[in-house]
Amino acid sequence: MNRGDALRPFVVAAEELARAAGTLLLQFRVRPELRAESKGRRRELVTQADREAERIIVGGLQARFPGHGVLAEEGVLTQAGVASTSSEWLWIVDPLDGTTNFVHGLPNFAVSIALAHRGVPVVGVVHAPALGDTWVAAAGLGAFRNGAAVSVSATGEVADALLATGFSYNRNEPGRDDNSQRLARVLPQCRDLRRFGSAALDLCMVGGGLFDGYWELYLAPYDVAAGAVVVQQAGGVVSDLRGGADWLHGGSIVAANASLHTALRLALQ
Ligand code: IPD
Ligand code: CA
Ligand code: CA
Repeated sequence: MNRGDALRPFVVAAEELARAAGTLLLQFRVRPELRAESKGRRRELVTQADREAERIIVGGLQARFPGHGVLAEEGVLTQAGVASTSSEWLWIVDPLDGTTNFVHGLPNFAVSIALAHRGVPVVGVVHAPALGDTWVAAAGLGAFRNGAAVSVSATGEVADALLATGFSYNRNEPGRDDNSQRLARVLPQCRDLRRFGSAALDLCMVGGGLFDGYWELYLAPYDVAAGAVVVQQAGGVVSDLRGGADWLHGGSIVAANASLHTALRLALQ
């Protein structure tokens, strides 16, 4: 059996659970009693929808794959942000990426589920129920948007690039890079720039060739793991800001097609 075929059952499970969580998110979206709470920082929100979506996903993964570890953002069935076991296989779950959009009634939010094998993400599913988009990727299988194969753009120069970025919740805290200087450097050079508010979807849009490149700082593994697999399987490159491989845990990520990646990274220095 080749690698892609071996991963197929995991892809099917991740997609099924992402869709179930997505249906629940849409139900919560129309409930007027939905209240957003701050998670410590005033601007960092969480809702009952984040927690219930996580319960569906993590509960489903634990039932299907009892030997696998889980790293999930909200800590509903596991400790928040901590891998539940040190197994060879680790599920990395953001039940709702784009909570600020969700709370404000904007459609750019997604369920993000990745599976890492020995620390390397190999499966990624990003399901955006309000946009009607499901992105699926796996090593050896490729990357797909609603079942159709996708690939990164061919744009080779920053001057022709539509880029995306984000601004972390910690941006006003002492010693943090608030991304404003990198933005100021790149903005005059590129075609234009978007801030859509879901790292998982920003990465998928690089994979699908809608964005030519994307970067962000201080993200967690659950923000980026699934979307990064989409970029890689769509033929793109993912690195940290220095061009190294520490994009999952290292707190910086740059994603682009292979011909733009270095130029974008250098423009951001
Ligand atoms: C956030 C989104 C946003 C990014 C933030 C993330 P959340 O995730 O991905 O685009 O800029 O830094 O934390 O909190 O909505 O899951
Ligand atoms: Ca997130
Ligand atoms: Ca989240």
